[in-house]
Amino acid sequence: MHISRILLTALLAAGTTFGAPNIPLEARKRQATNARADAIKEAFLHSWNGYTQYAFGFDELSPVSNKGTNSRNGWGASIVDAMSTAILMGLDDVVLKQLEHIKTVDFTKTTTTVSLFETTIRYLGGLLSGYDLLTGPYKDLLPGNSTKLIDALLSQAVILADTLAFGFNTTTGIPANNLDFTNKTFTDTTNGLATTGTLVLEWTRLADITGNRRYAELSQKAESYLLKPTPSLGEPFPGLLGSGVDIKTGQFTNSNGGWGGGSDSFYEYLIKMWVYDEDKYELYKERWIAAADSTIKYLTSHPQPRQDITFVAEYENAQTLSLNQGHLTCFIGGNFILGGQVLSRKEYTDYGLALTSGCHQTYNSTASSIGPERWSWDPKNVPAAQSDFYARNGFYTTAAYYDLRPEVIESYYHAFVATGNETYRTWAWDAFLAINATARTASGFTAVSDVGLADGGGKYDNQESFWFAEVLKYLYLIFQEGGQVGFIKSSEQKWVFNTEAHPLKVRN
Ligand SMILES: *[C@@H]1O[C@H](CO)[C@@H](O)[C@H](O)[C@H]1NC(C)=O
Ligand SMILES: *[C@@H]1O[C@H](CO)[C@@H](O)[C@H](O)[C@H]1NC(C)=O
Ligand SMILES: *[C@@H]1O[C@H](CO)[C@@H](O)[C@H](O)[C@H]1NC(C)=O
Ligand SMILES: *[C@@H]1O[C@H](CO)[C@@H](O)[C@H](O)[C@H]1NC(C)=O
Ligand SMILES: *[C@@H]1O[C@H](CO)[C@@H](O)[C@H](O)[C@H]1NC(C)=O
Ligand SMILES: *[C@@H]1O[C@H](CO)[C@@H](O)[C@H](O)[C@H]1NC(C)=O
Repeated sequence: MHISRILLTALLAAGTTFGAPNIPLEARKRQATNARADAIKEAFLHSWNGYTQYAFGFDELSPVSNKGTNSRNGWGASIVDAMSTAILMGLDDVVLKQLEHIKTVDFTKTTTTVSLFETTIRYLGGLLSGYDLLTGPYKDLLPGNSTKLIDALLSQAVILADTLAFGFNTTTGIPANNLDFTNKTFTDTTNGLATTGTLVLEWTRLADITGNRRYAELSQKAESYLLKPTPSLGEPFPGLLGSGVDIKTGQFTNSNGGWGGGSDSFYEYLIKMWVYDEDKYELYKERWIAAADSTIKYLTSHPQPRQDITFVAEYENAQTLSLNQGHLTCFIGGNFILGGQVLSRKEYTDYGLALTSGCHQTYNSTASSIGPERWSWDPKNVPAAQSDFYARNGFYTTAAYYDLRPEVIESYYHAFVATGNETYRTWAWDAFLAINATARTASGFTAVSDVGLADGGGKYDNQESFWFAEVLKYLYLIFQEGGQVGFIKSSEQKWVFNTEAHPLKVRN
C-alpha cells in the first residue's frame, strides 16, 4: 500500500494537521484517517447535542427553528436510529442516555398512523441492532450494571412487534402498511414492493433472538408472494417486478418499477437474507441473481453525450424504459458490490463500481458538490436551461433538493471495503465536506433546497433520523481503522446491515 496523493492534497486543503515529517508514511496516513473519523464523530455530536437540547424525546429536531417534530409516532425515532451509530463510535454516555429513554417508551400507543415498513426498519431494526452489538462485540462499552437497560431493548422490540402483528392479519398474509393502533384497524387494499419486502430480515432476526418462530413466519409468508410473483404482468423482466400487490389476492397490480424508492430495498434484502443464512435462503439468492442479471442486461443506460457514465433506468408499463434515476436508487452500487463479494462474482462487483461512479458523477457536477434528489438523461426532454450542463455532465436535474440521504455514501463504503481503493475515501470526504458546508446549522444538519447552488440554496427545517443511522455511520466506518462490525471483503460476513444501516448479527 502507498499513500494516495489525492488523499494528501484533500487533507491539506481541509487544513488537517499531520504528525512530524519523520513519522513513517503508513502512520501518517493512519493519523489522517483517524482525524477524518474524528471529524465525522464531531458532526454526530453536533447533531446529537442539538437534538438533546431542543427536541429530546421527539422523533426529530427541526434544526433551524430548534423545535421537536414527530413524524414517526412520537417514540423518539432519532434516539433509536442514532443508537447503533453511537455504539460503533464508542460514545458510552450517549448510549446510556438513549437506553434510559427507550425503556420508558410505550410502543403500544400512538394516535398517528403507523407505517409497518418505517417502524420495522427504524425502530425494530435499531432496537435489535443495539441488542446484538451491546450483547456482542460491544458488551464492555457500558458499566456492568447496565444489563437491565440492554435487556429492555429486546423486551421493547417484542412489545412493538406484538403490537404491529395485527397488520399481517389479512386473507393472504400480505400485511397492510398503514396501521391504526387506537383500534387495531387498517383500510389498505394494496401494499408496495419495498414496504412488503423489507420486513423479513428484522422479523427473522427477532424470531432467532427470542426463539419465537411466529415473527419469522409472518414476514416470510408475506415475502412468499414476492418470491413467486403472479400474474406474469408482475414480472416484466426476469426477477424485476411491479411495484404493488393486492392484499386480498396476492396478485401484482402493475408492471412499473426499478431500483428506486418504493421497490428498492425488496431487491436489497434478497441477497441480504442469503447473507443472513446461506443454507436457508437459497431462493432469495436465486431471485437476486435473476434481478441483477436483468438489471445489467435491460436497465443499464449510458447518457448520449457521456457514454462513459453508467446509470440505471426505471421501467413503466412492462418494458418501456424511463431514463430517470434518484438519489434513493444509488444504494444499488453497494448492493451489487455486496452481491459480487459474497457470491465471488466479479462482474457484479464491477457493475456496482460503475454505478457508484455514476452516482459520484451527480455529486461531482453540481456547484454544491452534492447530488440532486432526482435526475434524467432523456435526450428528448432536456430543459433548455440545462442543455449545456447536460452536454457536459450527462444528466439534467429534475428535483434539486438534498434530504440528508445516505445512499451514495453507502455505496462508497462498500466500494472502499471491497477494493481498498483510496479514491472512494476521497469521494466520501468530499461529500462530507460539502454537506458540512451547506447543510449545517447551529444545532444540527438540515435538508437543503437546491444542490445546484454553491450554498445549497435555502435550508429546510428538517433533520431526518436516518442522518444519524445511515449517513454518519457509513462515513464513520469508511474512515475508522480496524472496526470489527460491518461489511467485510469476503463471503464470510458476520454482520448484515438492514436498510437503515443497523448492523444485525447473521445466523450462526
Ligand atoms: C450504575 O452504576 C453507576 C455508578 O457506578 C451509577 O451512577 C448508575 O446510576 C448505575 N446505573 C444503573 C442503571 O443502576
Ligand atoms: C384477525 O382478523 C379477524 C377479523 O378480520 C379477527 O376476527 C381476528 O381476531 C384477528 N386475529 C388476530 C390474531 O388479530
Ligand atoms: C379506527 O379509528 C380511526 C381514527 O383513529 C377511524 O378513522 C376508523 O374509522 C376506526 N375504524 C374502526 C373500524 O372503528
Ligand atoms: C470533482 O472531483 C474532483 C476530485 O475529487 C475534485 O477535485 C473536484 O473539486 C470535484 N468537483 C466538484 C464540482 O465537486
Ligand atoms: C480507483 O477507483 C477509481 C474510481 O472508480 C478508478 O478511476 C481508479 O482506476 C481506481 N484505481 C485502481 C488502482 O483501481
Ligand atoms: C464542519 O463545519 C464546522 C462549522 O463550520 C467547522 O467548525 C468544522 O471544522 C467543519 N468540519 C470540517 C472537517 O471541515
